[in-house]
Amino acid sequence: MSTGTLSASTPYIIQQNYAVYTEEQHGVWAELVGRVLPELERHAAREYLEGFEIIGLQRDHLPNLASISARLGPRTGWSSTPVSGFLPAPAFFEMLATRNFPTTTWLRSRDSLEYTPEPDIFHDVFGHVPMHAHKVFADFLEHYGRVCAAISENAVLEKLGRLFWYTVEFGVIRQRDEIKVYGSGLISSHGECANVIGGHCAIHDFSLDEVLATPVKVDELHKLLFAVSSFDQIYEAMHEAERRAIHQRL
Ligand SMILES: [Fe+2]
Repeated sequence: MSTGTLSASTPYIIQQNYAVYTEEQHGVWAELVGRVLPELERHAAREYLEGFEIIGLQRDHLPNLASISARLGPRTGWSSTPVSGFLPAPAFFEMLATRNFPTTTWLRSRDSLEYTPEPDIFHDVFGHVPMHAHKVFADFLEHYGRVCAAISENAVLEKLGRLFWYTVEFGVIRQRDEIKVYGSGLISSHGECANVIGGHCAIHDFSLDEVLATPVKVDELHKLLFAVSSFDQIYEAMHEAERRAIHQRL
């Protein structure tokens, strides 16, 4: 972990005390993985599944963030950096800009397997971190953080938040004429993933204009998502968004 240049996020960075996880918690992790992995093996993007192996995620034990980062670092420079919980925007963007992914260490309990109001380690690591092993996605995410860290207008940040939402959180990709999921909110939620795979959600070809014009709804299953044809497309879209932000056309 390289956190020497951080300032806004420093108060939120913690240590993961791996030894305190109980057998019950490892069991909850195993159950969470077990209920979604079979469908992900068929319906997740190839790059997600490759990342899963690269970072050494285990099916029956909670991830040790230091071990994950040790495998990820040499590939893309990203670290899965433990934080105490929800981060204010400046701290969040600062961490992304320095390739530190803010990662919660708590795990939901067995009676809320499907839904947690705030991200936990299952959402953050199982949902997000495998994609950080993909070079283009990794570069995109850092660039996103760098651009947002330099913006103070809330209206512009809200628009850029839509780009994050419809890619990092709820992104899908077309691979061999099939829709595959890669966004963490789809990967880590059985219900959201089934909604897409079951054809209950319209899929438009990704367009930056349409993504920026589509508000985020957090209280219902998605009715519309956007499919990229490659991860280069989100990398390019972020550069276009940056140009628009600079020229105040976002
Ligand atoms: Fe997330």
